[in-house]
Order: sequence, then structure tokens, then C-alpha cells
Amino acid sequence: MRPLRNIVILTGAGISAESGIDTFRAADGLWEQHRIEDVATPEGFRRDPALVHRFYDARRAAVQRAKPNPAHRALARLDAEWPGALLIVTQNVDDLHERAGARRLLHMHGELLSALCAACGERHRWTGALGAGPACPGCGCAALRPDVVWFGEMPYGMERIYTALQQADLFVSIGTSGAVYPAAGFVAEARRWGARTLELNLEESEGSALFDETRLGRAGELVPAWVEEVLKA
Ligand code: OAD
Repeated sequence: MRPLRNIVILTGAGISAESGIDTFRAADGLWEQHRIEDVATPEGFRRDPALVHRFYDARRAAVQRAKPNPAHRALARLDAEWPGALLIVTQNVDDLHERAGARRLLHMHGELLSALCAACGERHRWTGALGAGPACPGCGCAALRPDVVWFGEMPYGMERIYTALQQADLFVSIGTSGAVYPAAGFVAEARRWGARTLELNLEESEGSALFDETRLGRAGELVPAWVEEVLKA
């Protein structure tokens, strides 16, 4: 086995569930209450921008009331103490990883606390509502949209992610159903380059068979235990 130096971690909605943030595919999850085509596609936004803004404005407000949980804090500790390369790739649009202190972090699906100007392309930190059509601080146009990657759009940071996966000795997936590509393909990519693969999830996911090891349980318990194990080895 290769010595462990380079770690890539992929996180999904499950890591924020214990902070009170809804996941997508649970029986009472966001995609049971809303149609993906309506609130998570460019076409849906063109059809009914007010509906889309209401959805993300509510989620932006909820995220600011939530707090990082032990899983976020354990990854921040790993980030601070791990001497090798590390990249936390999150599909989550909340800011709980960074509020816990993580620095080597990439938001591949964008961020709720950011607004993207459809006119000038600038991204601006945004904590309030977008529904009222505020002007872009950069160009003055009223063309701000949530800085969230919708279905049919290109995720952020793909080059950096694939480079890290090529160099990874260990790929760890935490709290994601493995239902959405390209993130769902990272495990196969990491394996192709020789990484060991570990999944930490509440239940078996669509991709479980692709991992060398799967540990089932709550992220708030599994992640701190795994981080302790890695830092002690
Ligand atoms: P999902 O809702 O699809 O999956 C969440 C996963 O977390 C499930 O496998 C749960 O079993 C697991 N889970 C729930 N609670 C957990 C806990 N306390 N500890 C550990 N695991 C737990 O969410 P994602 O996989 O993140 O994209 O969804 C991927 C993408 O689909 C999202 O980024 C979003 C969505 O459509 C876009 O909107 C572009």
C-alpha cells in the first residue's frame, strides 16, 4: 500500500444534516418538497425567477441560523494538522465547513452566501435576500442570481479537483448519496489513479460497491473517529 500523504474528501448534504440543514433525497428532503426542474435549473429560473429566489432566500436565511457540527469541526482539525496535501471538495452550498475553520476547501456546487451577476459575471458575498432584485455592486445591473450550480451547468473547480484526485492516496466520501455527477464519478477516478477509497454515510449509497470500505453511521460520530485514526497513524 502507498504511504498516506495526499487526501481528497468529498462531502454532501449528509454532513450538514446534524446541523439541521435538509438533505435532498431523504423521504422529507428538499427534492420531495420541490421539483428540481423548477428550482435547480436555468430554465426554471427563466420561467419563474420569483419562485427560485424564494427557495434560495429561505435556504440562505436557514444556513445562517445553523451551526457547524462535530463532523465539520473534525475535518477542520484534519485540515489544520495534516502535513500532506488535502482538499475538501464539498457539494454543499452552506458555509459550515469554513465556519468550523476549514481552509483547503472547494465549493463545487457554489455557495448560498454568494450572488452571481448574470450581466457582468462577478460574484459577491451575499447574506440577504435576492428576491427584491437588488443591483449588482459591480455593474449596477439588477441581474443577480444565486451563485449555486444548477443542473446543466458546469461545477466550479473541476480542473483542480481532477488534479487532486490523480495525486490522491486516499479518497473519502462523506454524507452523499452518489446520485449526482460529476461528483458521483470521483470515487472511480480516484481508484483509477491508485487511491484507497472510504465511504462514511448513514446508509449504503448508490456508489457503495465502488469503495474499498464503507462505514455506516452518523457523520457527527464517524468523522471525528476517522480523523482521530488518521492523525494518530
Ligand atoms: P443527498 O440528499 O442526495 O444525500 C445525502 C446522503 O447523506 C444520503 O445518502 C444520506 O443517507 C446521508 N446522510 C443523511 N444524514 C446523515 C448523517 N447524519 N450522517 C451521515 N450521512 C447522512 O445529498 P447529496 O448527495 O449531497 O446539487 O446531493 C448531491 C447534490 O444533489 C447536491 O449538491 C445538490 C443535489 O441536487 C445541486 O443542487 C446541483
